Amino acid sequence: MQSVKDMVVMITGASSGFGAETAKLLGAKGAKLVLGARREDRLKALCDEIGENAVYSVCDITKKEDALALAGRGLDSFGKINALVNNAGIAPNAALSKGTVEDWDQMIDVNIKGVLYAIHAVLHHMMERGSGTIVNISSVAALRVLPSAAVYSATKSAIRAISDGLRMETGGKIRVSCVYPGAFATEILDTITDPDVAAWLKKTGFNKIAGDPRQVAEAIVSVLEQNPELSLSDVVIRPTAQAF
Ligand SMILES: NC(=O)c1ccc[n+]([C@@H]2O[C@H](COP(=O)([O-])OP(=O)(O)OC[C@H]3O[C@@H](n4cnc5c(N)ncnc54)[C@H](OP(=O)(O)O)[C@@H]3O)[C@@H](O)[C@H]2O)c1
Repeated sequence: MQSVKDMVVMITGASSGFGAETAKLLGAKGAKLVLGARREDRLKALCDEIGENAVYSVCDITKKEDALALAGRGLDSFGKINALVNNAGIAPNAALSKGTVEDWDQMIDVNIKGVLYAIHAVLHHMMERGSGTIVNISSVAALRVLPSAAVYSATKSAIRAISDGLRMETGGKIRVSCVYPGAFATEILDTITDPDVAAWLKKTGFNKIAGDPRQVAEAIVSVLEQNPELSLSDVVIRPTAQAF
C-alpha cells in the first residue's frame, strides 16, 4: 500500500455524500484536495473543516469550462493533480412512460458528459506526468437495471464503458478504477420525486438496508492507497443486506 499523504486529489460532487466523506477521509490522511460542486456553502464548510490542504471551485460539471477551472484551481494551488475521483451524479428516476425528458437530459449531462469533462480536464496533465489515478463512480445499476431506472442505469453503464476504454487507451500510465456502489444513505434519495419509485424504495426497504456512505469513501481511499503497480479496476460494494 502507498500513503496518500501529499497526493493531490480532485473530487467532483464533493459537497455531500460519497464525495464529502472521501474528502474528509483523505484530508485526515494528509492528502491535498481540490473540491468541486455547485453548492458553495457546503464546499466552504468542508474546506474549513479539512484545513489548508483543501481548496474548492464552484463547478457545474455539465459545463466543460467549469471542469477545466476546477483542475486549474488544483494546478495553481498544488502544482499537480495525482488523482481524480469522478463522483458527481444524480438519479431523478422514473419509468420511461412518464416522459420526464428534462430529467433524462440532466442525467445524461451530469452522469456521462460531466464524467467525460472531468477526465478531459486532467488527462493531458496526467499523461504528461506519466502517471495518475482516475476513479469513476458508477453504480450496481450498471450491472443490473432496477425498476424505473433505465436512463440512470444507461448513464452508469456508460461510465463502465468509459472506464474500460480509458484503461485500455492509457495502460501503463494511468490507473483507472470503476466503483459500483449499491444502496447507501446519501442525499441522492432526495432527488427522487416519482411516487412509484418512492413506493419501490419503501417496498425493498432501501432506507433500512442503506449503508453508511463512509464505507464507500473507505473503498475509494483504498483504491488510491494501492501500490502504483496495482490497479483495482472494478470494485462492487453493497451492504450485505442488499439482495438487489
Ligand atoms: N447513494 C447511493 O446509494 C449510490 C449508489 C450507487 C451510485 N451512486 C453514485 O454515487 C455518486 C455520488 O452520489 P451520492 O450518493 O453521494 O449523492 P449526493 O449526496 O446527492 O451527492 C451528489 C453530488 O453530486 C453533485 N452534483 C450534482 N449535480 C452536479 C452538477 N451539475 N455539477 C457538479 N456537481 C453536481 C452534488 O453537488 P451539488 O448539488 O452541490 O452540485 C453532490 O455533491 C453519484 O454518481 C451517484 O450516482 C450513489
